[in-house]
Amino acid sequence: MSKHLTDISSLGDADIDHLLKRAAEIADGAPARLEGAVVANLFYEPSTRTRVAFERAAQRVGAEVINITAQSASVTKGESLADTARTLHALGVNVVVLRHPENGAPLELARALPDGMCLVNAGDGTRAHPTQALLDALTLIRAGVDLQQARIAVIGDIARSRVARSSIELFGRLRAAEIRIAGPAAWLPGDDDMPGVKRCRDFEQAAADADVIMMLRIQRERVTGGQQGPDAADYHARWGLTPARLAPAAPGCRVMHPGPMNRGVEIASEVADGPRALIWQQVANGLPVRMAVFEWLLRQAPPRG
Ligand code: CP
Repeated sequence: MSKHLTDISSLGDADIDHLLKRAAEIADGAPARLEGAVVANLFYEPSTRTRVAFERAAQRVGAEVINITAQSASVTKGESLADTARTLHALGVNVVVLRHPENGAPLELARALPDGMCLVNAGDGTRAHPTQALLDALTLIRAGVDLQQARIAVIGDIARSRVARSSIELFGRLRAAEIRIAGPAAWLPGDDDMPGVKRCRDFEQAAADADVIMMLRIQRERVTGGQQGPDAADYHARWGLTPARLAPAAPGCRVMHPGPMNRGVEIASEVADGPRALIWQQVANGLPVRMAVFEWLLRQAPPRG
């Protein structure tokens, strides 16, 4: 049986514990090498940090890496995702990293993969981005945040954010003391979505005494139904994180953003570049997390050689 990482719920508690510990060891310099691993990065949606981190992680564990975009693949000639993966398997690929605009595409592909081929979800639609969640948790742990004591506020375009969905789920699994969400009413998830989170009426309620504030960008590429979304200046005035808005948070409150940032919209540059920000640590931790994930995937499914 091949292993897959499709979402946080596909991980057991022991898997999460192992991946976070192993990623921390790798970040501290522990060697991680895989013989015969061949990784294909299938990115059917734009990405900078996730794509580069997966590519660098694969190189760092000694894998061969192939990068494929939708524009460069035979998907443009009508080939299905499953047949693309079978083609890659026939050519010796044993790990597929998939970013896809449709919710559930990695789940569907995981069911169709030949035995011996592993899959990592690098973000699907608004549904899940599990390696981002792992790197977010690792970043907080390495910054000395005690998650079980932490009040975490996630603010912005929550309903369309796969990062919010996966990171909130993981913070809950790691027993964060309180998880709060806030954003424009139309952008909050339905009542049954994200159980256990505290819904705040405005930015100020979410940020008060918060130990961590995670800001999210407006997912304009996922705005549907002819909506324009808010004017950037209006949004910044109402929902942007500024030095003044950070003041009522807990002393030492850490600021996160999964990127890409829209400076002057959801976050002011003074905060993004300030001492509370963990934004570049998040990016850097994407490397050991993905190395740990490759190792974890291929431990039970030996590389073909
Ligand atoms: N955080 C994140 O997924 O960024 P990219 O879209 O640049 O990969």
